[in-house]
Amino acid sequence: MNQQPIKTDNKSIYDKIFICKQAIQGLTHVRVLDLFAGRNVLWNNIVTEDYFGIDREKYKGKNLVADSHKIFDSLDLKNFTVIDVDSYGISFDIYKKLFSRKDLQSGTVIIYTAITNEFTKIRNEAKIEFNFDKFYNKAPSLFNARAIEFFYEMLAKYGISEVNYYEIRDHFLKHYGYFIINR
Ligand SMILES: C[S@@+](CC[C@H](N)C(=O)[O-])C[C@H]1O[C@@H](n2cnc3c(N)ncnc32)[C@H](O)[C@@H]1O
Repeated sequence: MNQQPIKTDNKSIYDKIFICKQAIQGLTHVRVLDLFAGRNVLWNNIVTEDYFGIDREKYKGKNLVADSHKIFDSLDLKNFTVIDVDSYGISFDIYKKLFSRKDLQSGTVIIYTAITNEFTKIRNEAKIEFNFDKFYNKAPSLFNARAIEFFYEMLAKYGISEVNYYEIRDHFLKHYGYFIINR
């Protein structure tokens, strides 16, 4: 996989906005599905044609209040050109489902956040995908620390050959980036 990191230790929202603007620059229509929308801070700073945010917490932003992991299967993806997966940790379950969806359009930009350290638990879908579900509990920190590697391996397995991201290292390793669906 061609990985193009832009290293920075600037943690500001402006970095996220920068990478999102870069991600969508080739799009004619910017129709965003924001699965972990929070207070909509990011996308309030970017011009969109359409925006649909979801967050499990009430009163955070202008969102549908729901658990994105649970309702993902019921979302119609065909009209979205951007899907933002700005979750805490890495939503392996959502990426796995995403790649199997027939209504996901070629050219859709997937914006991701991947955050890990040795204490952040990996979702079960990654354990199963990489066959370490039986060993995980023996040395969780070893697996947790490699979660971002597993994430890129998973993308490669599903045919993603290029990602662009920037990296921050503090108590966590954080990647903010994007890739484009090509099918
Ligand atoms: C990193 S913040 C997103 C910030 C957002 N991009 C913004 O610009 O304001 C992650 C958000 O995911 C939400 N969240 C966590 N688990 C969720 C779930 N299962 N379903 C939906 N939202 C969830 C949290 O409430 C939090 O607002």
